[in-house]
Amino acid sequence: MVTVVDHPLVQHKLSVMRDQHTGVKEFRELASELSLLLAYEAMRDLEVVPARFSTPLEEGDFPMLSGKKLALVAILRAGLVMTDAIVNLVPAAKVGHIGMYRDPESLAPVAYYAKLPADISERRVFLTDPMLATGGSASAAITKLKDAGAHSIKLMTILSAPEGIAVIEREHPDVEIVTAAIDRQLDDHGYIVPGLGDAGDRIYGTK
Ligand code: PRP
Ligand code: URA
Repeated sequence: MVTVVDHPLVQHKLSVMRDQHTGVKEFRELASELSLLLAYEAMRDLEVVPARFSTPLEEGDFPMLSGKKLALVAILRAGLVMTDAIVNLVPAAKVGHIGMYRDPESLAPVAYYAKLPADISERRVFLTDPMLATGGSASAAITKLKDAGAHSIKLMTILSAPEGIAVIEREHPDVEIVTAAIDRQLDDHGYIVPGLGDAGDRIYGTK
């Protein structure tokens, strides 16, 4: 299942990110802001339970998060900017990291690091990566999470290609994707078009 967060604020911020003239500082800030807006949607089904206490005026039952445990997991590098932003919304969440890059020739994901919460099987997992292109990186990261015991996983991306969505739907049909937009296609080098370029390079100012 794919949820596109089709909201004017989301679409505007994404368009500014796409602009080749947007600099590193603004790009990173926009990626953080968009991550919060995506999290608002991705976490819509978190459970709340009534808690009894008094406002300054009267006693009542008020909805509070149930306390079910959460994990934010970043696919390095670019997913880090997303978890860094989202953890401010859910400070009790644990944060995991999966290091993965695409081989520039084959476009196959190369895993180089993983550190996950030990109790990940008890946690709802939000996996972050701004770009879902061929889907290779996200699919391999989801497999890693499942191997570690995770069974409730949502994938949050800023931009997705139809090709990557198809891969996740085929290989991990239980994983919902929450994204700001679905672009037209991949180019011959596996870049999303029209896209926004290389997310990691634009966030960190590398080339
Ligand atoms: C980018 C991006 C994803 C991956 C998407 O990372 O952040 O992780 O490519 O491509 P895919 O869907 O075809 O696998 P990259 O490999 O450039 O690594 P980086 O974040 O370390 O720059
Ligand atoms: N990774 C990126 O950062 N951008 C793309 O367009 C594809 C993969």
